[in-house]
Amino acid sequence: MINKVEMMGDIERVLFSAEQIQERVKEVGAQISKDYYGKNPVVVGILKGVVPFYAAMTQAITIPLEEDFMCVSSYEGTESTGKIILRKDVDVSLRDRHVLILEDILDSGRTLKAIIEMMKTQKPASVKICTLFDKPEGRKIPLEADYVCYDVPNEFVVGYGLDYDGYYRNLPFVGVLKPSVYQD
Ligand code: XMP
Ligand code: MG
Repeated sequence: MINKVEMMGDIERVLFSAEQIQERVKEVGAQISKDYYGKNPVVVGILKGVVPFYAAMTQAITIPLEEDFMCVSSYEGTESTGKIILRKDVDVSLRDRHVLILEDILDSGRTLKAIIEMMKTQKPASVKICTLFDKPEGRKIPLEADYVCYDVPNEFVVGYGLDYDGYYRNLPFVGVLKPSVYQD
């Protein structure tokens, strides 16, 4: 639990501005539009961290797509617990569909692995991952994203949807949180 959230004052350094992210999202969105041409994918956002990225990316994709969301929790504080709880499943049927998962950050890989396993029980035609951030040094199980906007260092980042204990999601940039915020 954080006692006092200062927002800007809790940020050690800024990594990416919203404008920078927007530019990169356009590039990746153009690639996805080519790769999924004629496939009418279901684009599944993983709530809640994905919200700003989801809005930007789905608008950068120029082909027909369906939107849906899943919500899982797997993360308490700054350490992944490895336990995944399904809080909201997709509404549409994924059977024979091309599924593109949008995620805010790929760290240990446990969350996405659990999500993919749940999805595969519905027998989709394909499942791919597009992540805003990849933290390769955090990986605990072998899993790679198909589309990565940026790699980030093995530090705790917040903003542009990413939270610490529910806060900082509304920062219009991504930054590294000062360790003093989560260490007592
Ligand atoms: P795993 O470890 O399962 O984690 O790949 C993915 C989820 O962990 C959260 N996560 C972070 N959240 N800053 C955050 O705000 C981070 O640096 C960070 N690293 C992992 C995130 O919720 C993601 O969905
Ligand atoms: Mg998340």
